[in-house]
Amino acid sequence: MKKIIVLFLLVVTTPCLAQKFEGLALTPPMGWNSWNKFACDVNEQLISETADAMVTSGMKDAGYMYINIDDCWHGERDSLGFIRPDPERFPSGMKSLADYIHAKGLKLGIYSDAGWKTCGGRPGSRGYEYQDAMQYATWGIDYLKYDWCNTEGLNAEGAYLTMRNALAAAGRPIVFSICEWGNDNPWEWAKNIGHCWRISGDIAVIFDGEEGFGSWSSWGVLQILDMREGIRQYSGPDHWNDFDMLEVGNGMSVAEDRAHFSLWCMMASPLLAGNDIRNMSNETRDILTNKEVIAVNQDSLGIQGFKCLKKSDLEIWAKPLQDDALALCFLNRGMNTISVEYKWSEHRIEDGLNKIAFNFGENEYNVRDLWAKKNIGTTNDVLKRELASHDVIVVKLSPQN
Ligand code: GLA
Repeated sequence: MKKIIVLFLLVVTTPCLAQKFEGLALTPPMGWNSWNKFACDVNEQLISETADAMVTSGMKDAGYMYINIDDCWHGERDSLGFIRPDPERFPSGMKSLADYIHAKGLKLGIYSDAGWKTCGGRPGSRGYEYQDAMQYATWGIDYLKYDWCNTEGLNAEGAYLTMRNALAAAGRPIVFSICEWGNDNPWEWAKNIGHCWRISGDIAVIFDGEEGFGSWSSWGVLQILDMREGIRQYSGPDHWNDFDMLEVGNGMSVAEDRAHFSLWCMMASPLLAGNDIRNMSNETRDILTNKEVIAVNQDSLGIQGFKCLKKSDLEIWAKPLQDDALALCFLNRGMNTISVEYKWSEHRIEDGLNKIAFNFGENEYNVRDLWAKKNIGTTNDVLKRELASHDVIVVKLSPQN
């Protein structure tokens, strides 16, 4: 009888003990995702060639780790309900692709949806959560993006919790990326469920504007940047606000790509390249692999940046870093060049949330330009620069001691 009671308690209470896998995203996840460039046009050749390019382009060396297949990899479920990849696009199967990617020291991500069907109309995980999680674990998947199409009537927190518990039960550490576009304020409930959550609808290859599709829009870089005020306190190590995948290299100007990348780094967003990294220009590669700017994103404090000044088209964004340092991003949102003249000694920047203050009148800092990769004096000087339309200056200030 005692045994039966213990067994009963185990079975009944185990799901309540489930947790997300902790520590998988102590800094924002970095990798690549197929959607922005390839949409439904995914296959194993693209994925394995992208893994090759991740290594040869220097992106792996710069910190990119995940190769994430987005929508449309799916075939049908088999007679037992197990999901199979599309046999024509992935003839070797997911396990073999995962082995190939792991052998390169990289990790493989996959995509599903909490509803009956994915946004691309492929089988969703609703009703198959535990079986799908088990299948992903068996294949050797490391990252799951979980979308929110075709979920009418579902409770978001409950649906994501179910998949979190399913992943926990499957037993393989898998980064869990919540993609419900910020509809139900996931930052308020998802900290213990996922490792990151989208805060917006989809990004477009637009710096400033939106592309309407009737009932929904996809958004420009500045629109996503501005979309949610007051949620930076919810982001931090292992639980990030996700500003969506990068459009660097997909058609904006070099200045716009540089600004987009810098801002995503300032906001401590996951950095998932969304271009064809097999064929990218030197400018695109230089942006995606700038280690000093990436270090701002990957800083161990995990503080999301904030806007500390707005003067017409000029904005300054600030992000406190480890070792009492600070990253600042000067952004020109407008169409005309701006003459920036910033007299450090007249400024004091305070992160009220984290109670960190930088008083340039009292303390001197060394200033390094992270795009020019040059030291440019100290805060006793004046930063004087022409800043082109949609471009940025990113500096790191380190205390002198
Ligand atoms: C949604 C997501 C996108 C992408 C597509 C795939 O729109 O927000 O990031 O995954 O679905 O269909």
